[in-house]
Amino acid sequence: MAEYSDAFAFFGATGDLAYKQVFPALQALTRRGKLDMPVVGVAKSGWTLEQLKERARKSLEEHGGVDEEAFAKLAANLRYVDGDYRDPATFEQLRKELGDAQRPLHYLAIPPSLFATVAEGLAKSGCAGEAGGRIVVEKPFGRDLASAQELDHAIHQFFPEHAVYRIDHYLGKEPVQNLLYFRFANSFLEPVWNCHYVESVQITMAEAFGVEGRGKFYDEVGAIRDVVQNHLLQVAVLLAMEPPSSYETEAVRDCKIAALRAMRPLDKQSVVRGQFRGYREEPGVQHRSQVETFAAVRLHVDNWRWAGVPFVIRAGKRMPVTTTEVLVTMKRPPMSMFGEVVSPHSNYFRFRLSPEIVISLGARTKVEGEVMAGEDIELVAHEDPGDDTPPYERLLRDAMKGDSSLFTREDSVEASWRVVDPVLGDATPVHEYEPGTWGPREADELTADIGGWHDPAGTTPSA
Ligand code: BG6
Repeated sequence: MAEYSDAFAFFGATGDLAYKQVFPALQALTRRGKLDMPVVGVAKSGWTLEQLKERARKSLEEHGGVDEEAFAKLAANLRYVDGDYRDPATFEQLRKELGDAQRPLHYLAIPPSLFATVAEGLAKSGCAGEAGGRIVVEKPFGRDLASAQELDHAIHQFFPEHAVYRIDHYLGKEPVQNLLYFRFANSFLEPVWNCHYVESVQITMAEAFGVEGRGKFYDEVGAIRDVVQNHLLQVAVLLAMEPPSSYETEAVRDCKIAALRAMRPLDKQSVVRGQFRGYREEPGVQHRSQVETFAAVRLHVDNWRWAGVPFVIRAGKRMPVTTTEVLVTMKRPPMSMFGEVVSPHSNYFRFRLSPEIVISLGARTKVEGEVMAGEDIELVAHEDPGDDTPPYERLLRDAMKGDSSLFTREDSVEASWRVVDPVLGDATPVHEYEPGTWGPREADELTADIGGWHDPAGTTPSA
Protein backbone atom coordinates (compact mmCIF):
# COMPACT_ATOMS: atom_id res chain seq x y z
CA MET A 1 0.00 0.00 0.00
CA ALA A 2 1.23 3.47 -0.87
CA GLU A 3 2.16 5.60 2.10
CA TYR A 4 0.63 8.99 2.81
CA SER A 5 2.82 11.98 1.88
CA ASP A 6 4.69 13.64 4.72
CA ALA A 7 5.10 17.15 3.24
CA PHE A 8 3.43 19.24 0.58
CA ALA A 9 5.21 21.77 -1.65
CA PHE A 10 3.46 23.85 -4.26
CA PHE A 11 5.21 25.70 -7.04
CA GLY A 12 3.45 28.79 -8.38
CA ALA A 13 2.34 29.65 -4.84
CA THR A 14 1.70 33.30 -5.64
CA GLY A 15 -0.23 32.55 -8.83
CA ASP A 16 -3.86 32.47 -9.88
CA LEU A 17 -4.46 28.75 -9.49
CA ALA A 18 -3.04 28.70 -5.98
CA TYR A 19 -5.29 31.63 -5.14
CA LYS A 20 -8.48 30.16 -6.56
CA GLN A 21 -8.07 26.46 -5.91
CA VAL A 22 -5.08 25.45 -3.84
CA PHE A 23 -5.49 27.51 -0.64
CA PRO A 24 -9.17 26.53 -0.27
CA ALA A 25 -8.19 22.89 -0.78
CA LEU A 26 -5.37 23.18 1.77
CA GLN A 27 -7.65 24.74 4.39
CA ALA A 28 -10.23 21.98 3.82
CA LEU A 29 -7.59 19.26 4.12
CA THR A 30 -6.26 20.87 7.30
CA ARG A 31 -9.77 20.99 8.74
CA ARG A 32 -10.13 17.26 8.15
CA GLY A 33 -6.79 16.57 9.79
CA LYS A 34 -5.22 15.46 6.50
CA LEU A 35 -2.48 18.06 6.24
CA ASP A 36 -0.54 18.14 9.45
CA MET A 37 2.83 18.46 7.78
CA PRO A 38 5.12 21.14 6.33
CA VAL A 39 3.31 23.03 3.56
CA VAL A 40 5.81 24.94 1.45
CA GLY A 41 4.88 27.54 -1.12
CA VAL A 42 7.50 28.17 -3.81
CA ALA A 43 7.51 31.10 -6.23
CA LYS A 44 9.69 33.80 -7.64
CA SER A 45 7.89 36.91 -6.54
CA GLY A 46 10.21 38.53 -3.99
CA TRP A 47 7.64 37.82 -1.28
CA THR A 48 7.94 36.99 2.41
CA LEU A 49 6.15 34.26 4.34
CA GLU A 50 3.91 36.91 5.87
CA GLN A 51 2.82 38.05 2.42
CA LEU A 52 2.01 34.48 1.45
CA LYS A 53 -0.11 34.03 4.59
CA GLU A 54 -1.88 37.28 3.80
CA ARG A 55 -2.54 36.02 0.27
CA ALA A 56 -3.84 32.71 1.62
CA ARG A 57 -6.30 34.54 3.87
CA LYS A 58 -7.51 36.74 1.00
CA SER A 59 -7.92 33.69 -1.22
CA LEU A 60 -10.10 32.02 1.42
CA GLU A 61 -12.15 35.16 2.01
CA GLU A 62 -13.03 35.08 -1.67
CA HIS A 63 -13.29 31.32 -2.10
CA GLY A 64 -15.31 29.54 0.52
CA GLY A 65 -14.52 31.57 3.65
CA VAL A 66 -11.88 31.49 6.39
CA ASP A 67 -12.24 28.82 9.06
CA GLU A 68 -10.15 30.50 11.79
CA GLU A 69 -9.17 27.30 13.56
CA ALA A 70 -8.14 25.45 10.42
CA PHE A 71 -6.48 28.54 9.00
CA ALA A 72 -4.36 29.00 12.15
CA LYS A 73 -3.12 25.39 11.80
CA LEU A 74 -2.44 25.80 8.12
CA ALA A 75 -0.62 29.10 8.68
CA ALA A 76 1.53 27.45 11.37
CA ASN A 77 2.59 24.74 8.88
CA LEU A 78 3.11 27.16 6.02
CA ARG A 79 6.61 28.00 4.79
CA TYR A 80 7.74 30.01 1.80
CA VAL A 81 10.70 29.70 -0.54
CA ASP A 82 11.34 32.55 -2.92
CA GLY A 83 13.64 31.84 -5.82
CA ASP A 84 14.28 31.08 -9.45
CA TYR A 85 13.33 27.55 -10.53
CA ARG A 86 16.59 27.33 -12.47
CA ASP A 87 18.70 28.10 -9.42
CA PRO A 88 19.88 25.11 -7.32
CA ALA A 89 19.81 27.37 -4.22
CA THR A 90 16.00 27.48 -4.47
CA PHE A 91 15.84 23.71 -4.10
CA GLU A 92 18.41 23.64 -1.30
CA GLN A 93 16.22 26.06 0.58
CA LEU A 94 13.17 23.93 -0.17
CA ARG A 95 14.93 20.82 1.12
CA LYS A 96 15.55 22.65 4.42
CA GLU A 97 11.92 23.71 4.72
CA LEU A 98 10.73 20.16 4.07
CA GLY A 99 12.44 19.13 7.31
CA ASP A 100 12.74 15.35 7.68
CA ALA A 101 10.14 14.60 5.03
CA GLN A 102 10.95 11.57 2.89
CA ARG A 103 7.75 11.36 0.85
CA PRO A 104 6.92 14.93 -0.14
CA LEU A 105 4.21 15.67 -2.67
CA HIS A 106 5.19 18.43 -5.09
CA TYR A 107 2.44 20.19 -6.92
CA LEU A 108 3.49 22.15 -10.01
CA ALA A 109 0.99 24.93 -10.75
CA ILE A 110 3.39 26.47 -13.26
CA PRO A 111 3.74 26.65 -17.05
CA PRO A 112 4.55 23.26 -18.63
CA SER A 113 7.77 24.72 -20.05
CA LEU A 114 9.13 24.66 -16.48
CA PHE A 115 8.02 21.15 -15.45
CA ALA A 116 11.22 19.41 -16.48
CA THR A 117 13.45 22.08 -14.91
CA VAL A 118 11.63 21.77 -11.61
CA ALA A 119 11.61 17.96 -11.73
CA GLU A 120 15.36 18.02 -12.20
CA GLY A 121 15.87 20.57 -9.41
CA LEU A 122 13.79 18.41 -7.05
CA ALA A 123 15.66 15.24 -7.86
CA LYS A 124 19.15 16.74 -7.63
CA SER A 125 18.50 18.44 -4.30
CA GLY A 126 17.02 15.36 -2.62
CA CYS A 127 13.59 17.01 -2.54
CA ALA A 128 12.12 14.18 -4.60
CA GLY A 129 12.33 12.12 -1.42
CA GLU A 130 14.15 8.93 -0.62
CA ALA A 131 10.99 6.91 -0.26
CA GLY A 132 8.06 7.74 -2.42
CA GLY A 133 8.16 11.42 -3.34
CA ARG A 134 5.46 12.31 -5.89
CA ILE A 135 4.90 15.07 -8.38
CA VAL A 136 1.54 16.51 -9.50
CA VAL A 137 1.54 18.41 -12.78
CA GLU A 138 -1.14 20.71 -14.10
CA LYS A 139 -2.72 20.63 -17.52
CA PRO A 140 -2.17 21.29 -20.34
CA PHE A 141 0.54 18.64 -20.29
CA GLY A 142 2.62 19.88 -23.21
CA ARG A 143 1.43 21.87 -26.22
CA ASP A 144 0.95 18.99 -28.63
CA LEU A 145 1.79 15.32 -28.97
CA ALA A 146 5.50 15.83 -29.61
CA SER A 147 6.03 18.19 -26.68
CA ALA A 148 3.99 15.94 -24.35
CA GLN A 149 6.25 13.02 -25.28
CA GLU A 150 9.35 15.12 -24.70
CA LEU A 151 7.98 16.23 -21.36
CA ASP A 152 7.27 12.67 -20.29
CA HIS A 153 10.76 11.68 -21.25
CA ALA A 154 12.27 14.61 -19.31
CA ILE A 155 10.19 14.01 -16.17
CA HIS A 156 10.78 10.25 -16.22
CA GLN A 157 14.49 10.84 -15.87
CA PHE A 158 13.73 11.96 -12.33
CA PHE A 159 10.32 10.53 -11.40
CA PRO A 160 8.99 7.10 -12.43
CA GLU A 161 5.54 7.04 -14.04
CA HIS A 162 3.86 5.76 -10.87
CA ALA A 163 5.06 8.90 -9.05
CA VAL A 164 3.70 11.31 -11.70
CA TYR A 165 0.15 12.57 -11.19
CA ARG A 166 -1.24 14.48 -14.18
CA ILE A 167 -4.13 16.45 -12.84
CA ASP A 168 -7.34 17.15 -14.73
CA HIS A 169 -9.67 18.67 -12.19
CA TYR A 170 -12.74 17.58 -14.16
CA LEU A 171 -12.02 14.01 -13.11
CA GLY A 172 -12.32 15.07 -9.47
CA LYS A 173 -15.82 16.44 -9.96
CA GLU A 174 -18.72 14.51 -8.46
CA PRO A 175 -21.02 14.73 -11.51
CA VAL A 176 -18.20 13.60 -13.80
CA GLN A 177 -17.59 10.55 -11.62
CA ASN A 178 -21.31 9.98 -11.70
CA LEU A 179 -21.15 9.51 -15.49
CA LEU A 180 -19.09 6.39 -14.93
CA TYR A 181 -21.17 5.30 -11.98
CA PHE A 182 -24.54 5.84 -13.63
CA ARG A 183 -23.47 3.98 -16.74
CA PHE A 184 -22.14 0.92 -14.99
CA ALA A 185 -24.28 0.72 -11.87
CA ASN A 186 -27.47 0.33 -13.92
CA SER A 187 -28.51 -2.37 -16.33
CA PHE A 188 -31.06 -0.44 -18.38
CA LEU A 189 -28.53 1.78 -20.18
CA GLU A 190 -26.25 -0.82 -21.65
CA PRO A 191 -28.68 -2.29 -24.23
CA VAL A 192 -29.32 1.15 -25.77
CA TRP A 193 -25.90 2.71 -25.23
CA ASN A 194 -24.60 2.15 -28.74
CA CYS A 195 -24.90 3.10 -32.39
CA HIS A 196 -28.17 1.19 -32.80
CA TYR A 197 -30.04 3.52 -30.47
CA VAL A 198 -27.93 6.65 -29.98
CA GLU A 199 -28.19 9.34 -32.63
CA SER A 200 -25.55 11.72 -31.32
CA VAL A 201 -23.66 12.77 -28.23
CA GLN A 202 -23.25 16.46 -27.50
CA ILE A 203 -21.07 18.05 -24.86
CA THR A 204 -21.33 21.78 -24.25
CA MET A 205 -19.06 23.69 -21.91
CA ALA A 206 -20.21 27.29 -21.92
CA GLU A 207 -18.71 30.08 -19.86
CA ALA A 208 -20.38 33.47 -19.78
CA PHE A 209 -17.15 35.11 -18.63
CA GLY A 210 -14.03 35.86 -20.69
CA VAL A 211 -10.37 35.35 -19.90
CA GLU A 212 -10.48 37.39 -16.69
CA GLY A 213 -6.90 38.54 -16.22
CA ARG A 214 -5.51 35.27 -17.64
CA GLY A 215 -4.96 36.79 -21.08
CA LYS A 216 -1.27 35.99 -21.25
CA PHE A 217 -1.74 32.34 -20.32
CA TYR A 218 -4.83 31.93 -22.44
CA ASP A 219 -3.31 33.49 -25.54
CA GLU A 220 -0.63 30.81 -25.56
CA VAL A 221 -3.19 28.08 -25.17
CA GLY A 222 -6.67 28.66 -26.64
CA ALA A 223 -9.84 26.65 -26.08
CA ILE A 224 -8.73 23.40 -27.73
CA ARG A 225 -5.65 23.05 -25.54
CA ASP A 226 -7.30 24.60 -22.49
CA VAL A 227 -10.40 22.45 -22.17
CA VAL A 228 -11.06 20.22 -25.21
CA GLN A 229 -7.86 18.12 -25.21
CA ASN A 230 -8.30 17.37 -21.52
CA HIS A 231 -11.58 18.04 -19.65
CA LEU A 232 -13.99 17.47 -22.52
CA LEU A 233 -12.24 14.52 -24.15
CA GLN A 234 -12.19 12.91 -20.71
CA VAL A 235 -15.94 13.45 -20.42
CA ALA A 236 -16.38 11.96 -23.91
CA VAL A 237 -14.28 8.99 -22.86
CA LEU A 238 -16.45 8.32 -19.82
CA LEU A 239 -19.46 8.26 -22.13
CA ALA A 240 -17.83 6.11 -24.78
CA MET A 241 -15.68 3.61 -22.89
CA GLU A 242 -16.41 -0.09 -22.53
CA PRO A 243 -17.24 -1.46 -19.08
CA PRO A 244 -14.07 -2.18 -17.11
CA SER A 245 -13.78 -5.59 -15.48
CA SER A 246 -13.48 -3.92 -12.07
CA TYR A 247 -13.14 -0.47 -10.56
CA GLU A 248 -9.45 -1.10 -10.07
CA THR A 249 -7.30 1.86 -11.22
CA GLU A 250 -5.53 0.22 -14.14
CA ALA A 251 -8.64 -1.65 -15.32
CA VAL A 252 -10.51 1.66 -15.64
CA ARG A 253 -7.56 3.41 -17.22
CA ASP A 254 -7.16 0.61 -19.78
CA CYS A 255 -10.76 1.00 -20.91
CA LYS A 256 -10.36 4.76 -21.11
CA ILE A 257 -7.30 4.51 -23.30
CA ALA A 258 -9.07 2.06 -25.61
CA ALA A 259 -11.86 4.61 -26.14
CA LEU A 260 -9.40 7.42 -26.75
CA ARG A 261 -7.49 5.33 -29.24
CA ALA A 262 -10.71 4.66 -31.11
CA MET A 263 -11.24 8.38 -31.61
CA ARG A 264 -10.33 9.44 -35.09
CA PRO A 265 -7.86 12.35 -35.17
CA LEU A 266 -9.75 15.51 -36.05
CA ASP A 267 -9.50 16.93 -39.53
CA LYS A 268 -10.01 20.52 -40.61
CA GLN A 269 -13.60 19.92 -41.68
CA SER A 270 -14.51 18.73 -38.20
CA VAL A 271 -13.46 21.86 -36.36
CA VAL A 272 -14.72 25.42 -36.11
CA ARG A 273 -12.78 27.96 -34.09
CA GLY A 274 -14.09 31.30 -32.90
CA GLN A 275 -12.83 34.35 -31.07
CA PHE A 276 -15.10 36.75 -29.23
CA ARG A 277 -15.07 40.34 -30.34
CA GLY A 278 -12.91 42.34 -27.92
CA TYR A 279 -10.63 39.44 -26.97
CA ARG A 280 -7.63 41.13 -28.62
CA GLU A 281 -8.01 44.13 -26.32
CA GLU A 282 -7.69 41.96 -23.21
CA PRO A 283 -4.47 42.56 -21.21
CA GLY A 284 -1.76 40.07 -22.18
CA VAL A 285 -3.39 39.16 -25.50
CA GLN A 286 -1.60 39.86 -28.79
CA HIS A 287 -3.24 42.54 -30.93
CA ARG A 288 -3.50 40.23 -33.91
CA SER A 289 -4.10 37.05 -31.97
CA GLN A 290 -5.54 34.11 -33.90
CA VAL A 291 -6.14 32.13 -30.74
CA GLU A 292 -9.61 30.64 -30.29
CA THR A 293 -11.86 31.39 -27.34
CA PHE A 294 -14.46 29.02 -28.81
CA ALA A 295 -14.06 25.62 -30.39
CA ALA A 296 -16.58 23.21 -31.80
CA VAL A 297 -15.47 19.76 -32.93
CA ARG A 298 -17.13 16.71 -34.40
CA LEU A 299 -15.52 13.49 -33.31
CA HIS A 300 -15.87 9.92 -34.46
CA VAL A 301 -15.28 6.96 -32.25
CA ASP A 302 -14.31 4.24 -34.66
CA ASN A 303 -15.35 1.09 -32.90
CA TRP A 304 -18.16 -1.47 -32.96
CA ARG A 305 -20.23 0.36 -30.35
CA TRP A 306 -20.07 3.87 -31.75
CA ALA A 307 -19.54 3.57 -35.51
CA GLY A 308 -21.31 6.45 -37.25
CA VAL A 309 -22.41 8.27 -34.07
CA PRO A 310 -21.15 11.85 -34.00
CA PHE A 311 -19.71 13.06 -30.72
CA VAL A 312 -19.85 16.85 -30.94
CA ILE A 313 -18.20 19.11 -28.42
CA ARG A 314 -18.32 22.87 -28.10
CA ALA A 315 -16.61 25.05 -25.55
CA GLY A 316 -16.41 28.78 -25.38
CA LYS A 317 -15.84 31.92 -23.37
CA ARG A 318 -18.33 34.80 -23.36
CA MET A 319 -21.24 32.50 -24.13
CA PRO A 320 -24.81 33.34 -23.10
CA VAL A 321 -24.59 31.23 -19.91
CA THR A 322 -22.16 29.33 -17.71
CA THR A 323 -22.96 25.65 -17.75
CA THR A 324 -21.57 22.28 -18.76
CA GLU A 325 -23.97 19.71 -20.08
CA VAL A 326 -24.02 16.41 -21.94
CA LEU A 327 -26.93 15.40 -24.14
CA VAL A 328 -27.12 11.88 -25.50
CA THR A 329 -29.88 11.98 -28.10
CA MET A 330 -31.61 8.71 -28.91
CA LYS A 331 -32.74 7.75 -32.40
CA ARG A 332 -36.34 8.39 -33.29
CA PRO A 333 -38.87 5.57 -33.20
CA PRO A 334 -38.72 3.60 -36.46
CA MET A 335 -41.95 5.14 -37.74
CA SER A 336 -43.86 8.31 -37.00
CA MET A 337 -47.15 6.72 -36.00
CA PHE A 338 -48.93 9.87 -34.88
CA GLY A 339 -47.94 12.19 -37.69
CA GLU A 340 -46.53 14.81 -35.34
CA VAL A 341 -43.68 17.18 -35.92
CA VAL A 342 -41.40 16.28 -33.06
CA SER A 343 -38.21 18.00 -31.94
CA PRO A 344 -35.08 16.11 -32.99
CA HIS A 345 -34.03 16.01 -29.34
CA SER A 346 -37.16 14.46 -27.80
CA ASN A 347 -35.68 11.26 -26.48
CA TYR A 348 -32.44 11.76 -24.66
CA PHE A 349 -30.33 11.35 -21.58
CA ARG A 350 -29.19 14.66 -20.16
CA PHE A 351 -26.34 15.04 -17.72
CA ARG A 352 -25.91 18.55 -16.42
CA LEU A 353 -22.50 18.75 -14.81
CA SER A 354 -22.58 22.36 -13.64
CA PRO A 355 -23.58 24.67 -12.09
CA GLU A 356 -26.35 22.36 -10.85
CA ILE A 357 -26.18 18.61 -11.23
CA VAL A 358 -28.97 16.86 -13.08
CA ILE A 359 -29.42 13.46 -14.66
CA SER A 360 -32.63 13.21 -16.63
CA LEU A 361 -34.34 11.36 -19.42
CA GLY A 362 -36.35 13.09 -22.14
CA ALA A 363 -39.51 11.37 -23.35
CA ARG A 364 -42.89 12.11 -24.95
CA THR A 365 -46.25 11.63 -23.33
CA LYS A 366 -49.73 12.19 -24.65
CA VAL A 367 -51.50 15.44 -23.98
CA GLU A 368 -55.04 14.94 -22.68
CA GLY A 369 -57.69 15.10 -25.38
CA GLU A 370 -59.07 13.34 -28.42
CA VAL A 371 -56.04 13.85 -30.59
CA MET A 372 -53.09 11.47 -30.34
CA ALA A 373 -50.61 14.25 -29.84
CA GLY A 374 -48.03 14.65 -27.17
CA GLU A 375 -45.45 16.84 -25.48
CA ASP A 376 -41.85 16.56 -24.41
CA ILE A 377 -41.38 15.77 -20.74
CA GLU A 378 -38.38 15.02 -18.59
CA LEU A 379 -37.96 12.28 -16.01
CA VAL A 380 -35.48 13.55 -13.50
CA ALA A 381 -33.31 10.85 -12.00
CA HIS A 382 -31.05 13.02 -9.91
CA GLU A 383 -31.00 16.69 -9.02
CA ASP A 384 -28.59 18.57 -6.84
CA PRO A 385 -28.08 22.33 -6.45
CA GLY A 386 -24.32 22.07 -6.89
CA ASP A 387 -21.07 20.31 -6.33
CA ASP A 388 -19.98 20.61 -2.69
CA THR A 389 -16.68 18.80 -2.84
CA PRO A 390 -14.14 21.00 -4.58
CA PRO A 391 -12.18 18.81 -7.00
CA TYR A 392 -8.78 20.03 -5.88
CA GLU A 393 -9.36 18.95 -2.31
CA ARG A 394 -10.29 15.47 -3.49
CA LEU A 395 -7.47 15.20 -6.01
CA LEU A 396 -4.68 16.52 -3.80
CA ARG A 397 -5.79 14.16 -1.06
CA ASP A 398 -5.78 11.23 -3.50
CA ALA A 399 -2.27 12.16 -4.64
CA MET A 400 -1.13 12.28 -1.00
CA LYS A 401 -2.60 8.82 -0.48
CA GLY A 402 -0.87 7.55 -3.61
CA ASP A 403 -4.17 6.85 -5.36
CA SER A 404 -3.83 7.67 -9.04
CA SER A 405 -7.28 6.51 -10.21
CA LEU A 406 -8.46 10.03 -11.01
CA PHE A 407 -5.25 11.14 -12.66
CA THR A 408 -4.36 10.79 -16.29
CA ARG A 409 -1.86 8.18 -17.37
CA GLU A 410 0.94 9.03 -19.80
CA ASP A 411 -0.55 7.04 -22.69
CA SER A 412 -3.93 8.67 -22.17
CA VAL A 413 -2.52 12.20 -22.37
CA GLU A 414 -0.66 11.27 -25.54
CA ALA A 415 -3.73 9.65 -27.08
CA SER A 416 -5.75 12.81 -26.48
CA TRP A 417 -3.08 14.96 -28.08
CA ARG A 418 -3.18 12.61 -31.05
CA VAL A 419 -6.89 13.42 -31.49
CA VAL A 420 -6.48 17.21 -31.53
CA ASP A 421 -2.96 17.50 -32.96
CA PRO A 422 -3.97 18.01 -36.62
CA VAL A 423 -6.13 21.04 -35.79
CA LEU A 424 -3.99 22.89 -33.27
CA GLY A 425 -2.84 26.46 -33.83
CA ASP A 426 -4.01 28.15 -37.01
CA ALA A 427 -4.70 24.95 -38.97
CA THR A 428 -8.22 26.34 -39.42
CA PRO A 429 -9.44 29.95 -39.61
CA VAL A 430 -10.74 31.71 -36.54
CA HIS A 431 -14.16 33.38 -36.89
CA GLU A 432 -15.20 36.35 -34.81
CA TYR A 433 -18.36 36.11 -32.70
CA GLU A 434 -20.31 38.53 -30.60
CA PRO A 435 -19.86 38.20 -26.84
CA GLY A 436 -22.96 36.69 -25.27
CA THR A 437 -23.76 34.47 -28.28
CA TRP A 438 -23.19 30.77 -28.98
CA GLY A 439 -20.10 31.38 -31.09
CA PRO A 440 -19.70 31.73 -34.85
CA ARG A 441 -22.49 30.62 -37.17
CA GLU A 442 -20.03 28.36 -38.98
CA ALA A 443 -20.25 25.96 -36.02
CA ASP A 444 -23.86 25.17 -36.95
CA GLU A 445 -22.60 23.20 -39.94
CA LEU A 446 -21.17 20.59 -37.60
CA THR A 447 -24.60 19.64 -36.26
CA ALA A 448 -26.79 20.37 -39.29
CA ASP A 449 -27.61 16.67 -39.76
CA ILE A 450 -28.34 15.92 -36.11
CA GLY A 451 -30.93 18.58 -35.35
CA GLY A 452 -28.57 21.42 -34.48
CA TRP A 453 -26.79 22.22 -31.25
CA HIS A 454 -28.62 21.50 -28.07
CA ASP A 455 -29.02 24.68 -26.05
CA PRO A 456 -28.57 23.80 -22.39
CA ALA A 457 -30.23 27.01 -21.24
CA GLY A 458 -32.92 27.39 -23.86
CA THR A 459 -31.33 30.68 -24.91
CA THR A 460 -31.20 30.03 -28.64
CA PRO A 461 -34.12 31.94 -30.19
CA SER A 462 -35.04 29.04 -32.45
CA ALA A 463 -34.79 26.41 -29.69
C1 BG6 B 1 -9.70 25.31 -16.46
C2 BG6 B 1 -9.50 26.21 -17.65
O1 BG6 B 1 -8.94 24.15 -16.61
O2 BG6 B 1 -11.07 24.98 -16.35
C3 BG6 B 1 -10.38 27.45 -17.54
O3 BG6 B 1 -8.14 26.60 -17.72
C4 BG6 B 1 -11.82 27.06 -17.30
O4 BG6 B 1 -10.26 28.25 -18.71
C5 BG6 B 1 -11.91 26.08 -16.14
O5 BG6 B 1 -12.55 28.24 -17.02
C6 BG6 B 1 -13.32 25.58 -15.95
O6 BG6 B 1 -13.39 24.79 -14.82
P1 BG6 B 1 -14.73 24.69 -13.98
O7 BG6 B 1 -14.43 23.71 -12.91
O8 BG6 B 1 -15.04 26.06 -13.47
O9 BG6 B 1 -15.79 24.22 -14.95
